[in-house]
Amino acid sequence: MESGRSLRTSSERADLSQLTRTPYIQVVAYPRVSLKEAESRIKQLGTLGVEELVFEGRTRVGRLGILGLGTVGVVVKAFARGRPCALKIRRTDANRPSMEEEVRIATLANKVGVGPEVYAHTKDVIMMKLLEPMELGDWLKRLRGPGSRDRARALVHGLLNQCRKLDIMGIDHGQLSNLRKHAVIAEEVPWIMDFESAGTRRRPKNVTTAAQYLFVGGAVAPAMKRALGIRDTEKLKELLASYKEDPSDYAYAKVLETLRLA
Ligand SMILES: Nc1ncnc2c1ncn2[C@@H]1O[C@H](COP(=O)(O)OP(=O)(O)O)[C@@H](O)[C@H]1O
Ligand SMILES: [Mg+2]
Repeated sequence: MESGRSLRTSSERADLSQLTRTPYIQVVAYPRVSLKEAESRIKQLGTLGVEELVFEGRTRVGRLGILGLGTVGVVVKAFARGRPCALKIRRTDANRPSMEEEVRIATLANKVGVGPEVYAHTKDVIMMKLLEPMELGDWLKRLRGPGSRDRARALVHGLLNQCRKLDIMGIDHGQLSNLRKHAVIAEEVPWIMDFESAGTRRRPKNVTTAAQYLFVGGAVAPAMKRALGIRDTEKLKELLASYKEDPSDYAYAKVLETLRLA
């Protein structure tokens, strides 16, 4: 019952007064339902100005559609003070007592234009910009026609620049080796998501990890190389090793150059 996927779910809405009831309580206090936890979260939703939750999305909790389910949070569409947003609600079995550290880093990333904007938060809830994310692989499958190469180049360039900004900020995302889930496309631009595993006390390796996934080891690498017209990645690997050694503007420029993005 927990997270089966189906292509379509009809949308259902619930205001805060309904959320202690079944089935809504199963989303608000997921996966260990508890009235006490649910009431605390509902109170926090009230503080954030949430008027109603909108149960739509391809992930299911019982019959309800949601935007996504991770190891830390349940992500649900909502309306707050009349505007749509995404709420990441801490799971009742999450391996941390609050969302504070994720908010701290996501907010820092937002300062350089990276990640969906955090609008507000409480201990257990992050309210952020609502995206309609598409996975890179799906985007590449749909990519055809004149201008395809330029669009792919713009996308990769944009994504690597975001990684570079995080590197400079001293933020290591921590999960870009599984880029499929953590870099998505919405509004035709790339978004780095989910700062749950991010840290600011270790050496950032966003550029190297993302480039490695995109062109060498990731599931999308063959399609990505085709899209950009890149055959050989030996030079790229060397330049990534140099960047790793000394992440200077020069080393980054060389990486862009070999990908013909400069
Ligand atoms: N701002 C958002 N807009 C739309 N969907 C989102 C948003 N944030 C997360 N999601 C969806 O929810 C899923 C889980 O979110 P994520 O941040 O990865 O949670 P966790 O930290 O628990 O891993 C994502 O893979 C994505 O599909
Ligand atoms: Mg995640």
